[in-house]
Order: sequence, then structure tokens, then C-alpha cells
Amino acid sequence: MAFLELQNVSVSFSGFLAVDQVSLTVDKGETRVIIGPNGAGKTTIIDMITGKTAPTSGKVLLGGADISGRNPHEIAGKYKVGRKFQGPNLFDYLTVYENIEVALAGHSSILKTFLYRKNRAISDEIKTILDQINLYGKRDVVSTSLSHGERQWLEMGMVIAQKPQLITLDEPTAGMTADETYKTGEMIKTMMKDKTVIVVEHDIDFVEQIAETVSVLHQGKVLAEGSFAEVKRNPKVVQVYLKDDDEAVA
Ligand SMILES: Nc1ncnc2c1ncn2[C@@H]1O[C@H](COP(=O)(O)OP(=O)(O)OP(=O)(O)O)[C@@H](O)[C@H]1O
Ligand SMILES: [Mg+2]
Repeated sequence: MAFLELQNVSVSFSGFLAVDQVSLTVDKGETRVIIGPNGAGKTTIIDMITGKTAPTSGKVLLGGADISGRNPHEIAGKYKVGRKFQGPNLFDYLTVYENIEVALAGHSSILKTFLYRKNRAISDEIKTILDQINLYGKRDVVSTSLSHGERQWLEMGMVIAQKPQLITLDEPTAGMTADETYKTGEMIKTMMKDKTVIVVEHDIDFVEQIAETVSVLHQGKVLAEGSFAEVKRNPKVVQVYLKDDDEAVA
């Protein structure tokens, strides 16, 4: 049964249709990857699911509830939708450990966060997350001293700490080395195994590594949908996206 359902949604920015009558369903526990050229409307779709942008028409249903146009705070808090943005979003002057602590405490006070410190169950949970994101060894390092890739991982850990039922990741490997990108794929596969995950990505090897189903977006519309192997050999997808990608690399 569909867990997330976009029903014929459109987003118009002063008459320009960034998303044009998109219908898309994602099952519970699925990892869905959305690919497509720059400006295809991928981030706008994430913005709609997370409440940053309201659909101009159509509906967004999550677990059967209509969340269309609800505010980001409500979608994150009540509907437990976690989001990793297109760039890192950390507490700069806290350590790696403290960043996860704050995320676990959710929207409660910083004071409450530091009272958590004595709690054994909480410290075990933090250790589990830090192990999953390969940062246990750097737990006492302030986040500004981490590499670009490590900052992305820390942010993924913060998203997980909030115990979302749906996770959205917008270009999680942007700016990463090939090795970091591969590790990120493995993290998503293990750490987010039981979650419903929507990932926007450009790196085609990474898409192949993690995707269960791929949706290809082009000019605000779904151009193709299927397994990685299916969309990769779809002539329309090659035409608008994969071909350009090869040229960019060449
Ligand atoms: N707030 C806005 N106002 C006006 N136009 C917007 C706004 N946000 C996005 N757009 C336009 O909508 C289209 C889709 O943008 P979107 O950011 O969703 O693309 P994308 O697929 O995420 O692209 P990229 O791969 O470059 O991140 C683009 O043409 C963009 O310029
Ligand atoms: Mg984008």
C-alpha cells in the first residue's frame, strides 16, 4: 500500500509550472530515487512533501493523511518527515556528539539536552548513530573542523536521530569524493533500511547503488519510472538526461 502519495500535484511560480501534474506513490520502507536534469522540479517536489512549498493544485497524502500545504514544523513534528537539505545544516560550534544529542532531544530546550547526558540509554543510542555515520572516532571534534563529506554524514545522523518515518535527502553526495559517495550509499542502505526514503541525486553510480525504484523528472513531469536498469535503457531518459550527463563528463 502506498505510504506517500502525490495526487496530480502542480506547483506554479508566477505562472511557471515547476511541477506539472505529477502523480507518484512510494511504498512504506521503499528507497525511491528521483533523478532528472537541472530545473526538472526535483527539489520543488521535496519542498512540497516537507511543507516548504504548497502545491498550487493536487494533494500530498502521507499514511492516508492529507498534508498538502501544512507548515514545515507540523510536517516534521507531527508527521515525522525528516529532511536533509541541499547543503549542511549543523550547529557549528557544537561537537559531533553534541549535534546528535541536540537532534535526539528534538525541539526541547538545550538545557534538557544536557540533562540527557547522564542517561545511559541515550548515550548508547548516540553511539549507535555515530558508528553508523563513521564518526564515533571524531565525536569530540567541533563540526566546523569536519571535512565536507563528514559534515554531510553528521547531518544524516541528525535526521535519523529525529526518528522520522519518511526521510528526504536532496543531493546527499554533492561535493563528495567517490569513496565518500560509496560510503554514503552503504550508510543509507543500512541506517535507513526500515525507513521510507526519497533521495534526489545526480550521481548515476550512486543511484544504481541505492535505488529500489527510480522516478525520472523532466520539465516538471514524470518522464519514466522503474528499476535502475529499466530507466537506464529507456530512450527518452537517455535523450533528456543520461546523454547530457556523459557529455558533461567527457
Ligand atoms: N521560489 C521559486 N520561484 C520561482 N521559480 C522557482 C522557485 N523555485 C524553483 N523555481 C524554478 O522551478 C524549476 C524547478 O526548480 P527545482 O529547484 O525544483 O529544480 P531541481 O530539479 O531541483 O534542479 P537542480 O538539479 O538544479 O537542483 C526551475 O526552473 C527553478 O528555476
Ligand atoms: Mg534541486
